[in-house]
Formats: sequence, C-alpha cells, structure tokens
Amino acid sequence: MKALIASGGRGTRLRPITHTQNKHLIPIANKPILYYAIEAAVDAGIKEIGIVHNADSLEVPHYVGDGSRWGVKITYIPQETPGGLAQVVMLAEKFVKGDDFVFYLGDNMVVGGIKRYIDEFQKAKCNCWLTLSKVKDPERFGVPEIKNNRIVGVQEKPKKPKSQFAVAGIYLYDKHIFDACKAIRPSRRGELEISDAHQYLIEKGFSVGFSEITGWWKDTGKPLDLLEANRLILDNITSSNHGSVDAKSSVVGKVIIEEGAKIVDSVVRGPAIIGKDCVIEESYIGPFTAVGNNTVIKKSEVEYSIILRDCKISDVGIRIEGSILGNEVEIVEAAGKPRVHRFMIGDQSRVEIA
Ligand code: G1P
Repeated sequence: MKALIASGGRGTRLRPITHTQNKHLIPIANKPILYYAIEAAVDAGIKEIGIVHNADSLEVPHYVGDGSRWGVKITYIPQETPGGLAQVVMLAEKFVKGDDFVFYLGDNMVVGGIKRYIDEFQKAKCNCWLTLSKVKDPERFGVPEIKNNRIVGVQEKPKKPKSQFAVAGIYLYDKHIFDACKAIRPSRRGELEISDAHQYLIEKGFSVGFSEITGWWKDTGKPLDLLEANRLILDNITSSNHGSVDAKSSVVGKVIIEEGAKIVDSVVRGPAIIGKDCVIEESYIGPFTAVGNNTVIKKSEVEYSIILRDCKISDVGIRIEGSILGNEVEIVEAAGKPRVHRFMIGDQSRVEIA
C-alpha cells in the first residue's frame, strides 16, 4: 500500500494568502495542512508516499523534504498544468507500479486518521473505496447516489445532489483506477474529474465500496474552512509551556506556548497556540487562535483567528476576530492626527471595519 498526496493547484479561493504561499503549506494550529495528510499516511503504516506538486514551484519539496523526518520515503511528481484530480492520479502511475494506494487530497483534514478506511478497503477486496461525509452543501463536492447501501453513481458538483454526502478527498484504489482516468474526457470546467473516473468504474462493473466518516472532515478550500479546521484541531490539543508567562498574566484552558514565546501582562484563554519567540504583551488572546512564530501582539485583542509568522499587531482598538493574517503582516496604530485608517494591502485582500 502506497500513498499519493495531491498538493498542486493555485488555491484561488484562499487569495491573497496563496499569492505567495502554496495553500497546502498554510498552517492549521501552527502546522502546515499538508503535514496532517503525510502524518495520516505515516500513522497508517505507509512507507512510500508520492506527492504531486506544481511543476513551476519547488516550494513543497523544499519545505517537506525527503520524508526522513517521518521515517518514510517521499517521491515528488511534478504536474505541469492543473488538469484535474484524475490527471494527478495518472501522473502517479509509474510511482504506484501496480500497488494498491490511498489517494489523499492534501487540503483535506480528517480526525482519527485513515487506517480504518484502508483496513475496510482491504477486507472488502473492492477495486475502489470512497469515504463519504454527510454535509449541508453537497453541491460543492463529488456526490454519490446510494441505493440499497451501494454506490450506484457519482456526480461532480451536481446542481441537484442525489444524496446528503460529499465524497471526501481520501480514496482507496487498485490498479484499475488508471484505466478509468485514461478513459474519461475533461468536464465543463476543463478538468479530468475524479468523480467521472469513479462513475466509469461503476458503469464498467468494478466494485466501488465506501465508509462513512463519522467524525469531522474538512476540505480547507475556503477561508472559513481554515478557521473551522483550526478550531477543531485546537480543541484537541494538550497544554504545554516551553516559553515564559509573567506573574501579571493569566493563561487558562488548553494552551500551547512554544519555545522562546513570552506572555507579558496578558490573558490567554485557550484553546490556543502561541508560536516560537512570539511576544504577547498587554493583550488578550481568545479561544481558537493560532499565532505563528515570531509574531508580536501588543495592546490588542485577538480571537478565533489564524495569524501567520512574523506579524506585528499593536494598539488595535477593536478585537480582531475570524481573521487570517499572512506572513509579516502589520496592523498598527496610525501615527498623528487626524484619526485615520491607513491601508497598504495586497491584491485580493479583504478587510472588514466596524
Ligand atoms: C475535489 C473533488 C470532489 C471532492 C472534493 C473533496 O473538489 O473534485 O469530488 O468531493 O475535492 O475535497 P475540488 O476541491 O476540486 O472542488
């Protein structure tokens, strides 16, 4: 059993963060989203992982490395132009070499790992195994049609979904998936859809089984999904303090304080994580906040937010909430009179002001 992880695409729905950073490297609770996928494969006992990445950028290979830190071998497979998930699978045919494999979309997060799904797939001896999660908005996803507890069809982003389920981005395959991916044609959005490959398998009489994901699963394609994933991961952390908290500060609930971080005259109410070498001074950090390394927050309040590394937030008169700040962002008090808001904001940013 091998793992194939998709980390390509442009992440257009997460701009402006993705103008300068691959969406799979955006941190959730201070750890890149992609690491959760890698660790899920590692925890399931998989030793060989292929990662498909955008050919025009070595950001993912440079950042993730050869896998030795997890005791696995990572092979990088470049994708010249994004052409859909079925194309991603086809690119990996040489890497997979006829083995069974789990195909994991690197922007998906699932609690409890993937071992259970691998075991169920192997036990059932199916050609393809899908993981399904009940969602409120199935029209955003691949959607199965289920009759008598069997999948009888799969449609990609249907206007009228035939079930309440999304096909999650964790798929198990044997070698027949390659024939399916080669047989299908691009969809209206110009992509080789993985759902069409599944539909092909069903029509040709291959066995397509499924597991229902009963815990939480998230496709982190949109900003609100990132905040939600961050909330869910932080909810399950264990407190630790490798930094310093002065006598005037209060740290309550589950909070991780990383090496070199200083909490001075502040309140941190968990679950929250404060990255390495951060300084939090005369401030309030509220629940579900992740603060990246080397960020300074002074005389300000932040809650339910993801703040990346090297940011500076000071003297902000109103609580920052439900926000995502990229690397090296500054939000500081405007000097002098009149009292103004002064912005220097990159393309496709969004600011809401009370
Ligand atoms: C892709 C797949 C879709 C699946 C989803 C899961 O959608 O095409 O079938 O349900 O991932 O995250 P996309 O992220 O390309 O919109």
